[in-house]
Amino acid sequence: MTLKIGLMGAGAFGTIHLEGFSKNPNCQLVAIASRTEEHAKAASEKFNVPKVYVGIDSWEKMLDNEELDVVSICTPNYLHAPIILKALERNCHIICEKPIAISREELHQIESKLTSKDLIFFTSFQKRYNPFFRLLKAVIEDGILGKITLARYYFSHFGPYKSWNAISEEKWFFDSNKAGGGVLLDLGVHCIDILRFLLGDYDYVDGINANSSCINMEDEDNCNVLFRFKNDALGLISVSYCNEPSETIDLFGTKGFIKVDLNGGNPISFGPKNLKSNTSVEELLAFKPIYESAQNKLIDHFIHCVLTKKQANPSFTDGKKAVEFVLEAYALKKKR
Ligand SMILES: NC(=O)c1ccc[n+]([C@@H]2O[C@H](COP(=O)([O-])OP(=O)(O)OC[C@H]3O[C@@H](n4cnc5c(N)ncnc54)[C@H](OP(=O)(O)O)[C@@H]3O)[C@@H](O)[C@H]2O)c1
Repeated sequence: MTLKIGLMGAGAFGTIHLEGFSKNPNCQLVAIASRTEEHAKAASEKFNVPKVYVGIDSWEKMLDNEELDVVSICTPNYLHAPIILKALERNCHIICEKPIAISREELHQIESKLTSKDLIFFTSFQKRYNPFFRLLKAVIEDGILGKITLARYYFSHFGPYKSWNAISEEKWFFDSNKAGGGVLLDLGVHCIDILRFLLGDYDYVDGINANSSCINMEDEDNCNVLFRFKNDALGLISVSYCNEPSETIDLFGTKGFIKVDLNGGNPISFGPKNLKSNTSVEELLAFKPIYESAQNKLIDHFIHCVLTKKQANPSFTDGKKAVEFVLEAYALKKKR
């Protein structure tokens, strides 16, 4: 069966989605909606997509005029929930970029509508498709580190228009109303999603500190969040738009620790040294990154789920929990 796909937002990440759909034999890209004609047309030419809708209401026009099976949402964050809600009314399966919404009200509206439908919803947390995290999870589940008591995730780069080549001239990442938040909502959602994948659900957020220290933006460009997992482990997520690209995870357990540099710049460090003889640690140490797009793998899995009518992860709930985490942290910021 061939699924008819419509893409919303022909920007930097929209292009990555288009590539994934164009390589999947069960997909037919039928239309692109984007704010400016130039970006919509460039993407339609590159990926041979026959129809283009242009303008602020392009996504509405597409949903009104096309018979789509799947909608892929890669617009600025404030448009995610309105597009999801209308796409659900049109009975489309959905893959939505993170963060899937920017308020609790939006999450609630989506959840109410989604539960009454038999549709597949994927949150685009593509990091889950990096095989390294499965190996790291196996180390944790093996118990060789003992009970995990502390997890730290650090993620930084120089921001959306330096390290990440977002293309819209709106520069919406720095507009509070359109982005819905700062670096925590942008990068922090990936961190909490991977930590939930590795260690289970978080329980509550203990505290936040944040500032805007290198970019002239209303929301934070630097942020630390302290929190607790349901299994009582402590968590620290530290995200920044003000530093060299870097992504590291440190896990400390009652029997040992492991520290990984996800960008591969430094070798994995661990202790005590005899952890090396454990099979799951051996497999982690032997891991060689394969330059296969995690996003393509996520899209292939999503399409498989649509065709077999089976919801899998990262689901709406995964997207929702990540947004709730950020909103809980932001609420503490506002109390000060
Ligand atoms: N999963 C990840 O790791 C990852 C990484 C980066 C980004 N993202 C997410 O992907 C989404 C897009 O980010 P990006 O970096 O691709 O930004 P971007 O390059 O600025 O792309 C956003 C696109 O949305 C279009 N757009 C704006 N308003 C629209 C409207 N009313 N109707 C239709 N299209 C509209 C823009 O059109 P114009 O160009 O014509 O203004 C632009 O092409 C964000 O939610 C972001 O968080 C995810």
